[in-house]
Amino acid sequence: MTNKNDSVPVLVAVAWPYASGSRHLGHLAGAYLPADVFARFQRFVGNEVLMVSGSDVHGTPITVRADSEGTTPGEIVDRYHKEFLDNWEKLAISWDLYTSTGTDNHSDVTHDVFMKLFKKGYIDKRSSEQFYDQDAGRFLPDRYIEGVCPHCEYSEARGDQCENCGRTLDPEELIKPISKISGSEPTLKETEHFYLRLSDFQEPLSEWLSGREGWRNHVLNFSKGWIEEGLHDRAITRDLDWGIEVPVEGIGDGKKIYVWFEAVIGYLSAAKEWSKNNGLEDDWKKWWSNPDSRSVYFIGKDNVPFHTIIWPAMLMGYGGLNLPSNVPANQYVTFKGGKASASRGIGLTITRSLEVFEADSLRYALAASFPEQSDTEMTVEEICRRINEELVATWGNLVNRVLSMIYNSCDAQIPSPELRNDEDMALLERIDQIVELVAEEIDKVELRSALQKGMSGAAEVNAYLNSMEPWKLSKTDPERAATVLGTALSAIAGVRVCLAPYLPFSTEELNDVFGPINSWQREEPQHGKKIEKPKPLFKKVDISLLDLDD
Ligand code: MF3
Ligand code: ZN
Repeated sequence: MTNKNDSVPVLVAVAWPYASGSRHLGHLAGAYLPADVFARFQRFVGNEVLMVSGSDVHGTPITVRADSEGTTPGEIVDRYHKEFLDNWEKLAISWDLYTSTGTDNHSDVTHDVFMKLFKKGYIDKRSSEQFYDQDAGRFLPDRYIEGVCPHCEYSEARGDQCENCGRTLDPEELIKPISKISGSEPTLKETEHFYLRLSDFQEPLSEWLSGREGWRNHVLNFSKGWIEEGLHDRAITRDLDWGIEVPVEGIGDGKKIYVWFEAVIGYLSAAKEWSKNNGLEDDWKKWWSNPDSRSVYFIGKDNVPFHTIIWPAMLMGYGGLNLPSNVPANQYVTFKGGKASASRGIGLTITRSLEVFEADSLRYALAASFPEQSDTEMTVEEICRRINEELVATWGNLVNRVLSMIYNSCDAQIPSPELRNDEDMALLERIDQIVELVAEEIDKVELRSALQKGMSGAAEVNAYLNSMEPWKLSKTDPERAATVLGTALSAIAGVRVCLAPYLPFSTEELNDVFGPINSWQREEPQHGKKIEKPKPLFKKVDISLLDLDD
């Protein structure tokens, strides 16, 4: 895995955030940050990564927001797309391309997929009765309607999905529907739409899913359960005026493509856009048609059926494109009580968080609690504790302590490895093992445990120092003190590799000492090299000074 000669193309496909409002820490911990950690790791081991996403600018989340503010969808989308770009920059999310579903390219690729499925008979036209608001004089697609979930009886299910049980819905399935526009009971009105014949894919999808190995249990169980209930054909157009044009005539005016049909196509259209931007027209095929490439989708669990069933069905229908290799969906990050309170983190947006926490500190605290297997409770207190008691105490202080001692008692020169004894070598061997273990876990997308292992490396170096006591040796045996400090620094170089995918800023700050990381292994620091006076890598946070309740 750590051998550059078997470089593999890896598509890191990340959920496209709706540009309908600020994103929260739950979104960051659920999709963008795990994707970034994984992508950075894959680049370190020499794989050819294409990490893409963009703002999801269509659909009722956007139009509902625009309606409520009395503004246009375009204004909403511009505002949040800009905010997201700023978030990514401050967090150093390492996109190869972050675009939007509002581009001509995306519309063209969507039309190509639509037409191919249409010509192959996987899309057909149907007439149905849809909910209509008499007072407002319009149809009520998706989030314009709420009612009781037919599966779990949750009373606030929306026309497109029930947030309680995660099932995707068609508006007409809702029990006791209510218009979100007027609050009135809607009537039914005949309208024509195009449908994706999902039921045609029942067998191939079921077979494909049963062959998946290394997938998270909750993802497989949910997906298989959905298929066993029997797949329904789904409308892929809507009575809306905001969205991508329908490329086939015949269903009347005022219709657009359903947001979920086109947003998932973004993974493909973004790869094509990236290729075009780089003057490499066909390069996208490396990730999309090469059977040796991997495609890993980073999403939250509410997005699972779209990525394990609907998108794979579309890809099967289209033909010649890779299905997902893995969809390591995360569960939810929950905040205590669930009541709105900025200080408990509910409503704590990425933007606000970055005003109070350093980016690496926030990345660390979230990664230590990634909700990989179950919903994970998070509080601002816990974020602060992780930063102070783990990141600063175990890692930041270690680096600072060793560099300061080298600066003060070794004439600011990196000591020579020559006189290392068995104990010194045992530490380095242990660190090298950890470097390997971390790689295995990150590759399996067990990012939380991998981070813990990396931090255990830091703890081992601390224990080594506490037993060697170089601060005492420097008075009695300066030569031995230098060897111990040089060994600790070399071990730190290994731990730095383990933490590098998680902590891009502080990793780079140490480039002066260690140089940039070029491969997934501990490299011996260059002995004799002069170091600068060290600065602390991270700031401690004082929760009482965090001004979060505004
Ligand atoms: N916009 C959706 C959300 O925020 C995610 C879309 S992911 C993609 O839940 F599949 F459409 F790309
Ligand atoms: Zn439900």
